[in-house]
Amino acid sequence: MTEKETATLSFRGESYELGVLPASLGPDVIDIRRLYADADAFTYDPGFTATASTKSAITYIDGDKGVLLYRGYPIDQLAEQGDFLETCYLLLHGELPTHQQRRAFDKKIIYHTMLHEQMYKFYNGFRRDAHPMAVMVAVVGALSAFYHDSTDINDENQREIATMRLISKMPTIAAMAYKYSIGQPFIYPRNDLSFAGNFLNMCFAVPTEEFKPNPILTRAMDRIFTLHADHEQNASTSTVRLAGSSGANPFACIAAGIASLWGPAHGGANEAALSMLEEIGGPENIPEYIARAKDKNDSFRLMGFGHRVYKNFDPRAKIMQKTAHEVLAELGVKDDPVLETAKQLEQVALSDPYFIERKLYPNIDFYSGITLRALGFPPSMFTVLFAVARTVGWIAQWKEMMNDPKQKIGRPRQLYTGPTERDYVPEGNR
Ligand code: SDX
Repeated sequence: MTEKETATLSFRGESYELGVLPASLGPDVIDIRRLYADADAFTYDPGFTATASTKSAITYIDGDKGVLLYRGYPIDQLAEQGDFLETCYLLLHGELPTHQQRRAFDKKIIYHTMLHEQMYKFYNGFRRDAHPMAVMVAVVGALSAFYHDSTDINDENQREIATMRLISKMPTIAAMAYKYSIGQPFIYPRNDLSFAGNFLNMCFAVPTEEFKPNPILTRAMDRIFTLHADHEQNASTSTVRLAGSSGANPFACIAAGIASLWGPAHGGANEAALSMLEEIGGPENIPEYIARAKDKNDSFRLMGFGHRVYKNFDPRAKIMQKTAHEVLAELGVKDDPVLETAKQLEQVALSDPYFIERKLYPNIDFYSGITLRALGFPPSMFTVLFAVARTVGWIAQWKEMMNDPKQKIGRPRQLYTGPTERDYVPEGNR
């Protein structure tokens, strides 16, 4: 990017000219890379609310307008007209694939879905009641112990193979975590099924009878993967980038991303939102929970509400709400009490000044739990599905960083507020 203007900082009687780097969309950035060397001061932005940690050409969010673009394409168009593997190609390569490119990409993904057979034994080390996210962190990290031939981050060909293996194997690993948790045998991937159909088959098929993935539910699953594929420099993506900046192998970086996604403030919110809706029970209890969400002395928050960037509706939430209705209708569920509670809670919250002033709207997690439960998944699997989808975003962002010749290890500084230097005091004199 070329500098087009400068910003001037006056500090302790000195004036500093800082470069401004232009964005193609959204805010330009003030380049503070020389600030510490020139002014002997750091900037301070815990939580990175106003800090660009990198430049990126992959995903763009306009929080005020509720817009999400993957490589410039609006999420609603991709979710409605495309499919998840097409979105994977787009995020990785920057353009929508031609028919030929798509066929070649599908083949690469479909033929990497099996796991090294020894990894099947790996699961036996877990208690059956282990949270599937704990299993995912462990097994994905362990991929670097089984696939040494794609851990050299300086070899572009190995980076490509690791990319394919991660996107292909995450559904298999996730389905195995689910099957293990319910004591059912693992189901091998099938090359004749779509990405989403294969995943539903590995989760819900049993050896005793043939499983026919329902096309409406398969389409819904595929769309949910597309909605969750990438989202700028969110907590888990930033974790993957920071881990990757040290030169860690891609399997270890994705395992770090899974760990970060697990938190209830982030990807764990879908599981927490459904638990909250079930705890609320019915619309008659909504006022109590709204009051608790507003009470500063109560740590309770409305899970599935609010977002660091969206200060309008999360465009994914609208599509997820529509998908919830489609899935429930296909399953013949006329009036799901949890969905009813969710819809009324949304209406009450969106008319309450507390939420209006803070621009708190439903995010993707508010409706995803209802949809995933209807598809047959237990709440403990919700964030696992988020991780399956987000792997392509994490790996696309990791590749973008690794392809940057100016890439360096991430190492934030701090505002130190601890004790100044003092001498050691022997125990007898304390
Ligand atoms: C995801 O970053 C991403 O892109 C994430 C994600 C992705 O695709 O990667 O979109 C996925 O993580 C979505 C978010 C899922 N999390 C939740 O639904 C958990 C509930 N939401 C909150 O924890 C919160 O809204 C965050 C964490 C999502 C955002 O928090 P911020 O940006 O740090 O905002 P904040 O905590 O500073 O809140 C601002 C104000 C505060 O009140 P005041 O101090 O100004 O009086 O809004 C309040 C907060 O108390 N607030 C809420 C609230 N969220 C914020 N009050 C009640 N309920 C909530 N949910």
